[in-house]
Parts: sequence; C-alpha cells; structure tokens
Amino acid sequence: MKIICAKTAGFCFGVKRAVDTVFEQVEKHKGEKIYTYGPIIHNGEVIKNLEEKGVVIIHSKKELEEVHEGVVVIRSHGVEKSIYDLLEEKNVIVVDATCPDVKKIHRIVQRESKKGNFIIIVGNPNHPEVQGIKGWVQGDWAVIEQVGDVESLSIPEEKKCSIVAQTTFNLEKFKDLVEIIEKKGYDISVLNTICNATRKRQEEAKDIAEQADAMIVIGDKSSSNTQKLYEICQNACKATYYIQTPKDLELNQLESVKSVGITAGASTPNTIIEEVQNSVRIIF
Ligand code: F3S
Repeated sequence: MKIICAKTAGFCFGVKRAVDTVFEQVEKHKGEKIYTYGPIIHNGEVIKNLEEKGVVIIHSKKELEEVHEGVVVIRSHGVEKSIYDLLEEKNVIVVDATCPDVKKIHRIVQRESKKGNFIIIVGNPNHPEVQGIKGWVQGDWAVIEQVGDVESLSIPEEKKCSIVAQTTFNLEKFKDLVEIIEKKGYDISVLNTICNATRKRQEEAKDIAEQADAMIVIGDKSSSNTQKLYEICQNACKATYYIQTPKDLELNQLESVKSVGITAGASTPNTIIEEVQNSVRIIF
C-alpha cells in the first residue's frame, strides 16, 4: 500500500506569514489588545489558540468603528481601501499581513480601473479576498464565478475589460470562463493573478489524484482554496474525501484501496496533515 502526500500540502507562505505575524504581535505588545480583521486563517484550532492568548476577531467594518486602541492585524486575504482609510483615522497600530500576491491584484485593479477599464473579477463573490479586491476598483466591475454569470454580463461595447482572478481560483475553470467572455466579443486584457502557490498545489493535487485509488483533501469547510482542491481531485479520482480533521476520516472506506493520496488547503496546519497520515498508516 502506498501513501502519497503532496509536498505542497498545508500552509502557503502568505498564510504562514500572517499567522506568524499575529503570534509576534502578541509577544511584542503584551498587555495590549490585539485584533485581527476577520479570522486570520480558516482553521478552528489556530483561531482557538489565538483567542486563548487574548486575540480578538473584528467581524465587520461596524465592529472596527468601535475599536479605539491596540493593534489591528490585516490578514492575508487583504481588505478594501475604505478599511485602510478608517484605520488611518484611528489611534491604533496597523500591521498589514496582506499577502503580496493579493496586494498585487489591488494595485492592478486600481490602475486598470483608473484607465477607465471595466474590471472583471473571476472568483467567489462572497469571499473576503474578492470583497477586498472590489474595494480597490475605481469604476465599474463585475464578479463572475460560473458560466451563468458570464451570460448575464452586460458591458458597454466601447469599454475595455481587464480580467483578474481570485488568487486561489481553479486555473482550468479560469481559462474556460475567459474563453467564454472572449467569445462574447469584448475587448479584454487578461491578468492571470492566480498565485504560484495555488497553481503548484492544484497541479500536484491533480497529479496525485490521477494516480491514487483514493484521495483525501484536508481543510476547513469554509476554506475556498480547499473546496477548489476538492473539486480538482474529485474530477481526477471519484473516491475523494474532504475532511477537516482525522476524526472525519472513515477508515473503512480505504480498506480495499492500494494507494491513497493526501493533500491539504493553504490554511491546514502540518500537525493535522501528519495526524491524518498516521491514521491512514494504521490501516495499511
Ligand atoms: Fe498568498 Fe496564494 Fe497563499 S495569495 S495567501 S500565497 S494562497
């Protein structure tokens, strides 16, 4: 029996940087309030650990308005420009842990929309990263996620369109959607902003899923990049299981398989990946 664990499984550099930043701030500003704007990571265990150290999550702009002191950490997903403007008015220390790959998209949409271009963001409209990106556009925009969204796009003919992607979007799906947009006859410029870490993780996951009899994808149910990994793996291997912790693993499902692949989303700690590997090893 073979267990193939993806080398790219687990924290990406942007998530690691953001999580480390919060722990550093806790040490540096002992006795002061430390806030994160939104949960720093889609992982219940890490969040619980930080809460025990006194870190408080700000859930909305309205809640931020009530914060008047302490340290506010911006997570790797980034935030809209109006949040920076609000933070500037406050007597708080701002620590920006936005992933550089997300910051790059903010600069792109700001620059392209200033030129008068219509901005198309390919991604999940409810994801905080996409909401942040929208908040840097200075003009018209649309978010598309499915073919149906492209069909209902209506952009004035004379407008040029600049297309960007949520960093964790499925690359193949992005290409398909761009092709459909192109067929509608719009004058488009495509800026593929899917980050390298995501691209490599998705490629490796697909590779492993194609070889394995069963595939395990580990990550929080609310993690967008893990959901996409699951989609990719399921397309390549029907016996794909999406779990959050080793407890979700139904080992009897793996009893008759000869090889198991394992991958994990960008916010899954190594400890969980190792625990899953150990549980799988027990049955082989
Ligand atoms: Fe950054 Fe990509 Fe991770 S955008 S936070 S490196 S998934």
